[in-house]
Amino acid sequence: MTATPAIEVDHLTKKFGDFTAVEDVSFAIEPGEIFGFLGPNGAGKSTTIRSILDLIRPTSGSCRVLGLDSRKDAVEVHRRIGFLPADLALYPNLTGKQTLEYLGNIRGGVDWARVDELTERLSADLSKKVSEYSSGNRQKIGIIQAFMHSPEVVILDEPITGLDPLVQVEFHGMLREMADAGGTVFLSSHTISEVERVADRVAFIRRGHLIAVEKMAELQDKALRRITLEFAEPVEAHHFEGLDGVRDVTAEGATISAQFEGSMAPLLKAATDNDVLSVSSASVDLDEIFLEFYRDEIKAAGDEVDDDAPAREVA
Ligand SMILES: Nc1ncnc2c1ncn2[C@@H]1O[C@H](COP(=O)(O)OP(=O)(O)O)[C@@H](O)[C@H]1O
Ligand SMILES: [Mg+2]
Repeated sequence: MTATPAIEVDHLTKKFGDFTAVEDVSFAIEPGEIFGFLGPNGAGKSTTIRSILDLIRPTSGSCRVLGLDSRKDAVEVHRRIGFLPADLALYPNLTGKQTLEYLGNIRGGVDWARVDELTERLSADLSKKVSEYSSGNRQKIGIIQAFMHSPEVVILDEPITGLDPLVQVEFHGMLREMADAGGTVFLSSHTISEVERVADRVAFIRRGHLIAVEKMAELQDKALRRITLEFAEPVEAHHFEGLDGVRDVTAEGATISAQFEGSMAPLLKAATDNDVLSVSSASVDLDEIFLEFYRDEIKAAGDEVDDDAPAREVA
């Protein structure tokens, strides 16, 4: 691709004293993408985001936003993007409207028509004082301030925290519209279901390391590649083992199940060589694929298995 990436992270490392929070992380996000940044708590998501925004200084490596250097061109970067921090601090005594007026004036004015549109979409209440808001309504103010100047890029650190499901759907619709219009969305999350719903690509981070960057469609495709074959009589697994792209073959009586990659043809040919009665494809939960990434990382680190892999939200 020849376009300048909307966000580029280049060999980013950030240490806090002896502790390495982010190590040698690199990725690039193209204009028009919704990029999910997925990892459990403490993985290094906020540290990466704060480095991109020059809120903290990288130990080594660099970041670029819209072709601008995060450090040298920090003012211009902040002018052109919208940012929702994970730990949004607002003045408790201002109302929602006053908060947006204050934040808008820092940018040189408020487009109230745009604010009204966002307020309505998110069913936000701007009339009360921030101190009286629920966490959900406070989060809505945070989202409105990130979007109200119609930025080219939004960087959102765990944005759906506290939002109820219907508002989440509306919010994700906003992200899709922005991307369709050529804008770029960087979305950090610790929940697989959110990223699965909305992202075009997803990066997995764990313990400061980028484990994988995958297209969502390809992950979903992988998730669909388990097949179950029913035969008239018991069949042995070895008929299917060693076939091109076929793995994890299990035989149980007259039922064979297997995972496959690429063409289904070799598997079907072997099936029809026997007396096959039915072929069905059951979906492998995306969780399994995500957990595979996290398990590999645990093995590579020589660590013991723990339970801080990202959780699937139970809706
Ligand atoms: N200012 C800091 N000083 C020391 N350690 C920090 C600091 N900020 C973050 N960390 C540590 O770096 C790791 C990554 O944190 P963070 O980027 O906030 O994770 P995430 O956003 O993925 O939950 C954590 O272990 C956290 O405790
Ligand atoms: Mg964080």
